[in-house]
Parts: sequence; structure tokens; C-alpha cells
Amino acid sequence: MSAVPFVQLNDGNRMPALGLGTCASSGSEIEKAVKDAIDVGYRHIDTAWAYENEHSIGKAVRSKIAEGAVKRSDMFIVTKLWNTFHEPHQVERACRQSLNNLQLDYIDLYLIHFPFGYAYKNDHEQWPRNPDGTRALSNVDFIDTWTAMERLVELGWVKSIGVSNFNSEQIARLLTVAKIRPVVNQVECSPTISQKKLTKFCKDRDIAITGFCPLGHPSPASKTPAFMYDGRVEAIADKYNKTPAQIGLRYLHELGVTPIPKSVRKQRMIENMSIFDFTLTNEEKQFMDSFNTGQRLVAMYDARKSPYWPYGIKF
Ligand SMILES: NC(=O)c1ccc[n+]([C@@H]2O[C@H](COP(=O)([O-])OP(=O)(O)OC[C@H]3O[C@@H](n4cnc5c(N)ncnc54)[C@H](OP(=O)(O)O)[C@@H]3O)[C@@H](O)[C@H]2O)c1
Repeated sequence: MSAVPFVQLNDGNRMPALGLGTCASSGSEIEKAVKDAIDVGYRHIDTAWAYENEHSIGKAVRSKIAEGAVKRSDMFIVTKLWNTFHEPHQVERACRQSLNNLQLDYIDLYLIHFPFGYAYKNDHEQWPRNPDGTRALSNVDFIDTWTAMERLVELGWVKSIGVSNFNSEQIARLLTVAKIRPVVNQVECSPTISQKKLTKFCKDRDIAITGFCPLGHPSPASKTPAFMYDGRVEAIADKYNKTPAQIGLRYLHELGVTPIPKSVRKQRMIENMSIFDFTLTNEEKQFMDSFNTGQRLVAMYDARKSPYWPYGIKF
């Protein structure tokens, strides 16, 4: 298996160009998955306060450090500020909670999870509701949240800061005030939503793109997303002795995106990271382009009424 290359970030730090997603898995399942991932060579682990698994992930990372399999400095741990903590005075508290959960001295990359906020009720209420059942939103401007994120770098709690689910206008606006530029914008990115325009926009401003849902949540039952179950993608995969998942992930890599596929199965983890020993032809990339419908899996319609909901413009 070829080594995972690095992406140079605009603050001098570097990020492995492929990571492990961990959403929707917790407890001993994700703890074992992260240990397996480290054993097979993953160094970039993506979590979030909202996934309620930071504790297990930290435990796995610390145990691999203790047994000498890796050093802390080899690992790139990403976690995210949840929507209920956008008020500037909550940001340090929220980051401290993530550090406590992880039991690590610092976070490599801390992201604002979404540009819109939810009303803060208490530390445990992730999905606050209004009395009529609709989502309780907050109107905190992400610019103010960002200023508090910058302070975390000064404190040494986080090495790098970035954003997630920001559109191009939000990035542009953030850059007009940021003292520390975001290093990454983590957005949904797969052959189904290839994000070429947003990637170029961010690259032009020295912001790297991390792609979440890079496999588009494969479902053998519904044969979605289309690229995973397409005979012509299977033929490309056969040519390189790869799978359609690997073709999709390699395609994202060649678009300049850092994919973070999630799996709790060791064999699939190996499969998903074995994409650095072949190159797609231009024709094959053009064919992969044809799967780009722009359809999202994560659209957060509950926040549609927020002035900061990001999905109302083209990119
Ligand atoms: N910033 C954000 O707002 C945001 C939003 C969503 C996700 N994320 C991050 O992005 C990560 C990835 O996204 P995701 O987990 O939603 O979707 P994904 O990585 O596209 O798909 C994960 C699913 O694919 C299966 N799978 C993994 N490798 C496979 C392979 N080679 N062949 C067939 N199936 C395979 C996994 O099952 P098994 O585990 O059983 O293998 C899992 O059910 C998340 O885990 C999270 O860390 C961030």
C-alpha cells in the first residue's frame, strides 16, 4: 500500500490527504475501528462534538500512543464546534469539552461545523426546538464565532482552525475579517456532488477542501449512489484491480480534495486508503464527471430560515 501524501495548509501545518470518518458510530465499535485504522496506517481521524464519540476516539488514539504504535505528532485529529456553541463566550467552553472528551493536550484542526447556529439551551441539548416543534435557531454571526476560534490558536488548544459547510460567499466574507485564515473548508464531496467550483474558489484563497460523505453512503439495496454500482465504473476499477469505491476516492484525490470515508471494517479501511498507487486517465475523469448531479445528502433543511444557511446559492 502506498503512503498517504500530505496537503500543505496555509498556516504551515500539514494534513494527511485521506482520513477516517467516524460519524454515526460510538463506544467500543468506534474505539476498535480507530485502533484498526491506526494499525493499517490512518493518521487523520475526523470526529465532532456532535458525534458523541470523541471520548472513544481519544481513548483509542491514546492507547496506540501508549503502546508505541504512533506518536501524538504523527496523528491529525479533527473535531468540530457544534451549532449550539456559536456565541463567542461558548467557544472556549465547547473546545475545552472536546479536549476533555478526547483527553488530548491539543486538537490538530478545529472546525466550525456549520455556518448557522442553534439556540443554546444547555450543554446536552444538540437539537433544540421551539415550542411549535421547529428548530430553535440562533442569529450569531459566524464572524463573531470565528474571532473566538482564533483565540483557541493563541491559547495553544488547537493547531489549526477551519470551517465546514461554508459556501463561497461566506468564505469571502470571513476572509475580509479573519486574522487567522481558515485552513480547510470541509464540505460534502463525492462524484455525485464534486464541488469543482467551490474547490477552485477555496484553492485560489489557499484553503484546502476536505470531502465528507465521499462514498455517498453506499446502499446495495437501492444501488445508490450511481457511481458505486455502474458497470462502466466497474470496468475502470477492473483495469486497475480496484473497486468502484477506490475509483470514486481516487477521483476526489485528483480533484484536489481530501476524502474522509467512514468505515468500521478493517478490510474496507485498507481498501479506502489504497488509492495512491494509480492514476486515472483524463477520459476516465471526464466519465466520472458525468455522475455530478449536485444532489446533497446533508442539506440541513431545519436551518433553512437562518440567514447563514449555506445551500441557497450555486456554490
Ligand atoms: N462536516 C460535516 O457536516 C459532516 C457531515 C457528514 C459527515 N461528515 C464526516 O465525513 C465522514 C464520512 O461521511 P459518511 O460517514 O457520512 O459517509 P461515507 O463515508 O460516504 O459512507 C460511509 C458508509 O459507507 C460504508 N463504506 C465504507 N467504505 C466502503 C466501501 N469501500 N465499499 C462499500 N461501502 C463502504 C460504511 O459502512 P461500514 O462502516 O459498515 O464499512 C458506511 O456505512 C463522516 O463519518 C464524518 O466524519 C462530516
